[in-house]
Amino acid sequence: MSQKIYLIANWKMQLLDNEAVDLTTKIIPEYKNINNKNLELILCPTFTALSKVGEIIKKTDLKLGAQNVWYHEKGSYTGEVSPCQLKELGVEYIIIGHSERRQNLNETNEEINRKINICLDNQITPILCVGETFDERRLGKTDLILMTQVSQALEDIELKKNQKIIIAYEPVWVIGSGQAIEPKDAEHSAQVIKQTLLDFFDKEVIEKNIFITYGGSVEENNVKEFIQPGLLEGVLVGGASLSIEKFLPLVHRLSS
Ligand code: PGA
Repeated sequence: MSQKIYLIANWKMQLLDNEAVDLTTKIIPEYKNINNKNLELILCPTFTALSKVGEIIKKTDLKLGAQNVWYHEKGSYTGEVSPCQLKELGVEYIIIGHSERRQNLNETNEEINRKINICLDNQITPILCVGETFDERRLGKTDLILMTQVSQALEDIELKKNQKIIIAYEPVWVIGSGQAIEPKDAEHSAQVIKQTLLDFFDKEVIEKNIFITYGGSVEENNVKEFIQPGLLEGVLVGGASLSIEKFLPLVHRLSS
């Protein structure tokens, strides 16, 4: 059986409810036509659109993802959303530690670790985002940053047979820039991440339960270059997932 390819559409805070619904409605028949069981397409709308998008994709093979979660299941946490509440809406994946949250909201590796834990406790797959800034790369610190982020995020995490983690390698400086990094650099980072994982998990667990994807200015013309079976097994797409005109050709390329 061939391995799954993950296509994660991160809609960030870009779409109003009706726009998210419209886009989803257009994606559904196309995805059905493609009929590629190995392509796992995960739509990650903003919190407010989760319910409606979840409702529309309920009877399809599309998956619902959220962009954040709080690390408690219930309680006095004004403004936060719990994994149980997200699960209720059909959420199966949650993006954790996106660089926009690390930078704008000072999200720490410790918080990210707690969020990953609570996702797994609730049978939700975390999509852990890691990646270096431009300055860190310039100073030759990329590998160290990746090792640190991965180690701290996954500290004391145990994976049961049916649980998985996706790690999205996203060089911060190319997100939204229109210029992705060289695929060989993404492959190198994926190797560094894999090597770091060996400190925490058995080889077999890494092979079967942990998947690395690339994100950062992925579009129709470069998407295939970032798929390397066994190493890079999907992509996280922001800008190019926001319109059907850009997204569909990308989906077709990926499944061809
Ligand atoms: P981008 O965003 O595809 O617009 O660069 C990627 C991301 O959300 O990390």
